Amino acid sequence: MEIEHTTLLIQKRILLGVTGSIAAYKAVDLASKLTQMGALVDVIMTDAAQQFVTPLTFQSVTGRPVYTNLWQSDISGGLAAHIAHIGLAEGADLLAVIPATANTLAKLAHGLADDLLSITALAARCPLLVAPAMDGGMYQHITTQTNITTLQDRGAFLVDPEEGRFASGLVGLGRLPETPTLIGALRRALGNDGALSGQKIVVTAGGTRESLDPVRFLTNRSSGKQGYALAQAALDAGADVTLITSAKGLPMPYGARIITVSSAEQMQQAVLTQIVGTDALLMAAAVADFRPHSPASHKIKKTDESSTLVLTLEKTPDILLSVKERRRDVHRPRVVVGFAAESEDLINYARSKMERKGVDLLIANDITASDAGFDVDTNRVVVLASDGSYEQLELMSKAKVGEYIIRRVAQLLNHRR
Ligand code: C5P
Repeated sequence: MEIEHTTLLIQKRILLGVTGSIAAYKAVDLASKLTQMGALVDVIMTDAAQQFVTPLTFQSVTGRPVYTNLWQSDISGGLAAHIAHIGLAEGADLLAVIPATANTLAKLAHGLADDLLSITALAARCPLLVAPAMDGGMYQHITTQTNITTLQDRGAFLVDPEEGRFASGLVGLGRLPETPTLIGALRRALGNDGALSGQKIVVTAGGTRESLDPVRFLTNRSSGKQGYALAQAALDAGADVTLITSAKGLPMPYGARIITVSSAEQMQQAVLTQIVGTDALLMAAAVADFRPHSPASHKIKKTDESSTLVLTLEKTPDILLSVKERRRDVHRPRVVVGFAAESEDLINYARSKMERKGVDLLIANDITASDAGFDVDTNRVVVLASDGSYEQLELMSKAKVGEYIIRRVAQLLNHRR
């Protein structure tokens, strides 16, 4: 599948420092994906890194020169050797050292400057991110831990290594995470000072499941994709994000606090607990409107006597209505966004829903279209505001819809400061 350009990454200059760990091969995939997402990736390799992967590999996936040597004077298309570190550092948006060996972490922590990467790190004024990767207990050694703490105290972003099997056959903590996690961490570092920096955002996602008996439940076709895209867009904007989700099988956005729930009632409890001190609530979840009135405690059995089964359903609690009530006293969340899935007379139904549920923005989509709404990766929505205005967005990815909504939320929050 083609990777879409990501607004946060477009034209961002990322200095990717690759050091001598077997995990250097994973940095190739990372450099490739970042480039496909629109970033300009300048790779600096240490000597040891080149024992594992060649500069040509990185050059091929980034389409840019790769920097390896402090004294190299013939970097074609690149920078002259004696000023390479200054040129690379200048205007960089992020220095990401992935994988970072114990040796390079020590150099960074203590200001050693004896190769192109460590010199560039001293010249750079952009944020630093390190993803340690090392074998056999080296990560847990007090020296490594102290160096990491030193870097973090100076504001560096850390990607925690994972537990698993090393190239040596040993098992432990020190493996470099896979590309999606690394990209999530990079996004977090790049978006740290974004429009929602310091704001607490709660997003709900997924269709709820309402139990019928211990093995069956009622649910709907919601995938949770739009809610997850909203959470990612809020993270990209620097928010502190809590994702309350009943969705299954979607990769969790890196950096979000995840609360998994199943039923509408559980979701309501989670929302009411989480909205204390929250700046914005985005109710993207497809909450069931009805649930079985009295779920059976044992599996409902087929009988020979009857060919039908009658279920009695009751209404679920309306979460947005309970939030509306809460808001009257505590004035939190400052902004509430609701969603509406309609199959006819979209604008009129959405308008009345907006008033009834007391939301500041209502995102309505027509679920009869095959390229929008449930389960697909694209969406076509109408955004209604409480002043009566509305905007019809063209068909776009759910990621882009998420970014648009987050921009609108940031504007509203700004006005209400
Ligand atoms: O009434 P309807 O289900 O169409 O409203 C959709 C909006 O209301 C969504 O934002 C959804 O998350 C929210 N909702 C809710 N509690 C329910 C049902 C829907 O908060 N029980």
